[in-house]
Amino acid sequence: MKIIVVDSYREMSKRAAKLVAAEVEANPLAVLGLATGSTPEGMYAELVKLNREGKVDFSRVTTFNLDEYAGLAPEHDQSYYYYMHHHLFNQINVRPEQINMPSCDLEDVDQFCLEYDQRIAAAGGIDLQVLGIGGNGHIGFNEPGDQLRVHTHLVDLTEDTILANSRFFNSVEEVPKQAVTMGLGSIMLAGKIILLAAGKAKSEAIARTVCGLITTAIPASILQLHRDVTIIVDREAADLII
Ligand code: F6R
Repeated sequence: MKIIVVDSYREMSKRAAKLVAAEVEANPLAVLGLATGSTPEGMYAELVKLNREGKVDFSRVTTFNLDEYAGLAPEHDQSYYYYMHHHLFNQINVRPEQINMPSCDLEDVDQFCLEYDQRIAAAGGIDLQVLGIGGNGHIGFNEPGDQLRVHTHLVDLTEDTILANSRFFNSVEEVPKQAVTMGLGSIMLAGKIILLAAGKAKSEAIARTVCGLITTAIPASILQLHRDVTIIVDREAADLII
C-alpha cells in the first residue's frame, strides 16, 4: 500500500483528482468506480474544474458507483443518484449512457445485483476504484460482520453507519436501513484503488486498515491484499499511523 499523508482536505482532494485525471488521460476509455459521501466531494469539485479547463476529458469514460440506499428515489436529495449528478455528472462531459449506478428499487433486487456485476464484467472490470471508508472500516457498504460478500448485494446497514449518515438527514429515523452495494469482488478486481480519508473520526479505521490483521471486522483491511492501493489521508486521519 502506498500511503500519502497530506496537510489538508483540500490537498487530499487535489491529489486524488490528479490521479483520476491521469488515469483518464492514459486511458480515455477508463472504467471508473466511484464513491459518494462527504469525503470525495472536494475531489469531484477538482475534477469538474479540470474538465472545464479542458485538462481532462470524460467523454469516453464509463462509471460504476459503489452503492445506493434502498428505497430512496433518484430525485431524493440524499440519494446517491442525486449526489453524483449534483457533484459530478451534470457538470462534466461524461455520456449519460456510460453512467452506471446501483438501483434503489427493491423489486427484483437479486436480479439487478447479478446484472450489475455482469455489466461491470462486460465493461472489462474497473480500472480505477475510488473509495471512502466508514469509521467502522466499511468500504462501499460492505459492513463489518462475520462474513464478507464478493458480489453486489442488498445489505442491512449497521447502527454505526445509520448513525454516522444521519448527519445528512433530518433525523436518524429517515436514514434508510438497507442499501445495495458492490461486493468486495469488483473492488478487489479493480486495477487500481484510491482510498481517501480525512478527519480524526477515520483514524482508527485507517490504522486498522493499514497496520492491522485482515479481518471481517474491518472490511477495508482486505485492501492489504491488493497490488495497487494508494491511500491519501490528511494528518488527522493518519494520526495513529505516523
Ligand atoms: C459511499 C461509500 C461509503 C463511504 C463511507 C464514508 O459511496 O461507499 O463507504 O465512503 O461511508 O463516508 P463519508 O465520506 O461521508 O465519511
